Amino acid sequence: MSVFIHAETKTFHLQNSHISYVMSVLPGGQLTQLYFGKRIADREDFGYLLEGCIRSHSAYPDDDGRGISLEHVRLEYPAYGNSDFREGAIEILQNNGSRLTEFRVSGWEVLPGKPVLEGLPATYTESDGEAETLVLKLTDDVTGLELSLLYTIFAEEAAIARSAKVTNRGSETVHIEKIMSLSLDLPDADYDMIQLTGSWARERRPETSRLIHGIQGVESLRGHSSHQHNPFIALKRPETGEKSGEAMGFSLVYSGNFLAHVQVDSYDVSRVLLGINPTWFSWKLEPGASFQAPEAVVVYSDSGLNGMSQTYHRLYGRRLARGIWRDRPRPILLNNWEATYFDFNEEKLLGIAKKAKECGVELFVLDDGWFGGRRDDTAGLGDWYPAKELLPNGIAGLSRKVEELGLKFGLWIEPEMVNPDSDLFREHPDYILAVPERRSSLSRHQLVLDFSRKEVVDCIYGMISKLLRESKISYIKWDMNRSVTECGSAGLPADQQGEVFHRHILGIYSLYERLTSEFPDILFESCAGGGARFDPGLLYYAPQAWTSDDTDAVERLTIQYGTSFVYPVSSMGSHVSAVPNHQVNRITPLETRANVAFFGTYGYELDLGKLTEEEQEQVKTYTAFMKENRKLLQFGTFYRLRSPLKQDSAAWMTVSEDGGEAIVGYYKVLNHPNTSFRRLRLDGLCGDAVYEVTVCGADGEKPFGTFSGSELMNAGLVVSDFSSCKVGAPPEEAKDFRSVVFHLRMGGSL
Ligand code: DGJ
Repeated sequence: MSVFIHAETKTFHLQNSHISYVMSVLPGGQLTQLYFGKRIADREDFGYLLEGCIRSHSAYPDDDGRGISLEHVRLEYPAYGNSDFREGAIEILQNNGSRLTEFRVSGWEVLPGKPVLEGLPATYTESDGEAETLVLKLTDDVTGLELSLLYTIFAEEAAIARSAKVTNRGSETVHIEKIMSLSLDLPDADYDMIQLTGSWARERRPETSRLIHGIQGVESLRGHSSHQHNPFIALKRPETGEKSGEAMGFSLVYSGNFLAHVQVDSYDVSRVLLGINPTWFSWKLEPGASFQAPEAVVVYSDSGLNGMSQTYHRLYGRRLARGIWRDRPRPILLNNWEATYFDFNEEKLLGIAKKAKECGVELFVLDDGWFGGRRDDTAGLGDWYPAKELLPNGIAGLSRKVEELGLKFGLWIEPEMVNPDSDLFREHPDYILAVPERRSSLSRHQLVLDFSRKEVVDCIYGMISKLLRESKISYIKWDMNRSVTECGSAGLPADQQGEVFHRHILGIYSLYERLTSEFPDILFESCAGGGARFDPGLLYYAPQAWTSDDTDAVERLTIQYGTSFVYPVSSMGSHVSAVPNHQVNRITPLETRANVAFFGTYGYELDLGKLTEEEQEQVKTYTAFMKENRKLLQFGTFYRLRSPLKQDSAAWMTVSEDGGEAIVGYYKVLNHPNTSFRRLRLDGLCGDAVYEVTVCGADGEKPFGTFSGSELMNAGLVVSDFSSCKVGAPPEEAKDFRSVVFHLRMGGSL
């Protein structure tokens, strides 16, 4: 890994064994983008990649005959208004009403490792040798504003982390109206754009569309990253698939309103913009003050979409997630939400926990409804003390009793919210996000606390930290169940109301930071009505997230498949739930529910005591299988093999680092009569090695065959038996919603 700086030609080249990222300075001082992609050799001058041309109706700020209009060149961090007519990355409102800036490169330095972004989540290094950071300084002479663009190249990964910071070195207060984390101009538009789209209970479904001229993209204006869109897009060549071809990922390490756009201009240049959504964003910057924009991580792959995802999995799993749980296999938990909803007392909970223990579960999680006046979802949020009528011994007593059963204890909280029917709201009605003289819309009977105010965060911190200190709590599920409306803060003057959305997110991050550093042993799982905040920002604080409120095994195929585009298996909360399923009424076999949940953190979302004796025995086998294999399942290299979007079946697998062991999940959705023979081609194995393959089921593992890695990856595993392709009574496996998990271990001979 190197950062080459060619002072003579003012060229910057970030390079490692996978990628190159090249920029240079235009004669007028602007920063231009010359190349991003697969590694290329370094040279003093890449000037041939900068092409100029006199075109009708274009403007030329430097009338030097080179024909360099900012409209025609690929810019690195553009501003609108000086001959570039595309969307800009930065917009600063000045006292004279102008929004014009012209940032010119004024200096640079290279730092070992990666600097911390204060108050913001970001990827990090554990030693300076892991990365190098190029800091480019740009100055706008008229306002005196200084822009620092940070580019971190990681030694081992095909990834660049970028961010932007503005410092006001002038004498006048200005307002930042837009500040993107990343702007990248690519020289052509021959790409498909992939976005992860959805809604409550059907999050992160990959959707692919061809780039066209004009602006396309996704955003959130809900005050959080949202069920609807994830802060991520990918660009891939039309021919790129999972295994081969070029792809680039653009991911924002942020949990609030975001924007991810691609603008294709009339010369087929594609401009990618990623950052805080400028709608309702404005930041007052007084002389001497700085504003740091969140981090964006761009990944390049020439080995298809799996290559792109695997880079994100490694980087986000190992250098974004933090804490003692980062590299540890996750405990198998049972959460009482779908088992009881609000209908529980201590005795009932302990009964469920006891049965869970018998089935091998390690952690019992008490979900919503244990506090204040919360007997249903209309009251109690904000009153973080146990309801004595349900839990006479409080959380301290319940957690002790659960530990006596031999289980760890976990608890649900929703710290950012308040019900109007709560002691907290009665005492502090001004603690909510609201606009004077406007009504406050309710959602799930609740309002949003104003976390842009430190005293509000302190108040919630006081209640939650007391609880954590007094009880034996090993796990926290941190939920968030509504979007922000009527966004305003009583804590800020009129000219800073545009800061509220972002300050609110910073307040959430600050509470996470305080609680995770004060209670480092606790495993935090983030949640937002399922997966409305499954984003890199929260992964920094909580190494796992509740993927979706939809626990149906078939629905989960698409949800977990889409989530895996960016997020590692170790981060995906996945539970076996009861049938008929509570979201879609579907009845799927217990085995398939387990086979899907294995590719995640794994847990249960039901009262195991309500299963038959036979099913309970099956659960014990599945729990034991997960304990035995969770390191491989959660931390192996993950490959998507077959998309649930395209076929009536889905498949994925995870492979150990040395290729010696792998686990494959194959899922058939609907059964069809007289179907074709089926083969599943695997990936990531050692071609020359021999593998013994077993089928894992309720009665343990059974031999399936012995094959070479090259056979498994090219000829494929024969999975026809799981379909109805035979005359007469179809085999037992040939039913709707059947699945199979194969275990591959290197060894044996052909
Ligand atoms: C939404 C979460 O996603 C569910 O798992 C559950 O915790 C409920 N909230 C509780 O209100």
